[in-house]
Amino acid sequence: MTIPPFKLEEFWKRYEFTAPYLLCCSDAESWTLQEILQLADLESKELWQSLNLGYTESPGLPILRKEIAKLYSQIDSSQVLTFAGAEEGIYCSMRTLIKPGDHVIVIDPCYQSLATLPESFGADITRLVLDYKKGWRLQLHEVQKAFRSDTKLLVLNYPHNPTGAVLEKEVLEGLIELARKSGAYIFCDEVYRYLEIDEAKRVPAIADAYEKGVSLNVMTKSFGLAGLRIGWLATQDMDFLQKIGSYKLYTSICNSAPSEILALIALRARDRILQRNREIMLANLNILDGFMQRHQTLLSWVRPQSGTMAVLELLIPVSVEKFAEELVEKVGVLIMPGSVFDLPGNFFRLGFGKKNMIKALDLFEQFLQNYGK
Ligand SMILES: Cc1ncc(COP(=O)(O)O)c(C=O)c1O
Repeated sequence: MTIPPFKLEEFWKRYEFTAPYLLCCSDAESWTLQEILQLADLESKELWQSLNLGYTESPGLPILRKEIAKLYSQIDSSQVLTFAGAEEGIYCSMRTLIKPGDHVIVIDPCYQSLATLPESFGADITRLVLDYKKGWRLQLHEVQKAFRSDTKLLVLNYPHNPTGAVLEKEVLEGLIELARKSGAYIFCDEVYRYLEIDEAKRVPAIADAYEKGVSLNVMTKSFGLAGLRIGWLATQDMDFLQKIGSYKLYTSICNSAPSEILALIALRARDRILQRNREIMLANLNILDGFMQRHQTLLSWVRPQSGTMAVLELLIPVSVEKFAEELVEKVGVLIMPGSVFDLPGNFFRLGFGKKNMIKALDLFEQFLQNYGK
């Protein structure tokens, strides 16, 4: 088995700690350790101060799993399994679910491992290609066409990276109906949940809505705590949970002890954390609206329905790769060409979750206005 290079993560490896202005991040503004500790309640403060740095329980700290379960309506703590970030959850899920020859439906574009892992493990993949001209919306009739009686798994990611699209309630219901007919699992990567621009558009987590639904979430994105590397899966399917729990013993075994307590503190203070992150994102989106308005002849987009990113089309006659290369070389601003997602056309990803977006956008605007002059 060979796994292809992870284009997006290779891209980050090259630029993340060298480019001064990252205008394509997908995570919300991050928090400092001091800020998180200040949010601690009495119990978690005590846990932090008396923390023992031995091994932790493989499924995750029980009170952390209890706190995670509160994010769902049909899930209790025994139906939550924690991981080292979302990526370990994806890897172990695909390892557990996929046998060679299984039919799997994935979305294109997507966070690469959601498609290349099942493919590398021998699955027969059907890609559902999202169309810019259709507002990047998932078309239920196309999913229906892709479904087979032996479909094993539908892999979703909503809110969606990189387009910022959300799933409509009727589409979600239709997908569950299709999956139920074939007895297929639905794995939904929900790492951008809680950043929907209109919160009324938030659909139920798949773990709540479907008995064979697997929800993936993490502290990385909406909560802005990537450095904790705490993610989790939630599902009503105990058979899957038991198998994947055994698989985890071959990867990270258990979580980092300090990270578990910090995740507990953050989840208990989630309203405050999400409120600040949403405020930054919404203020940035407002600025971005004005920017897009001013440059209608140079750029176009489908306005995102969730944070923290959007796909923009570069309308000037230059390849976005060349443009992006010059942008980062000359002014230190990083955008992410669509080729990182194998997205045809002249698209790039722009992030609007970070406080320094204003400065980065300003530099980008000057570069854009003077381009080719
Ligand atoms: C959709 C999606 N899933 C998973 C991940 C991986 O998250 P983590 O860094 O927490 O492993 C990312 C990161 O960009 C992502 O965009």
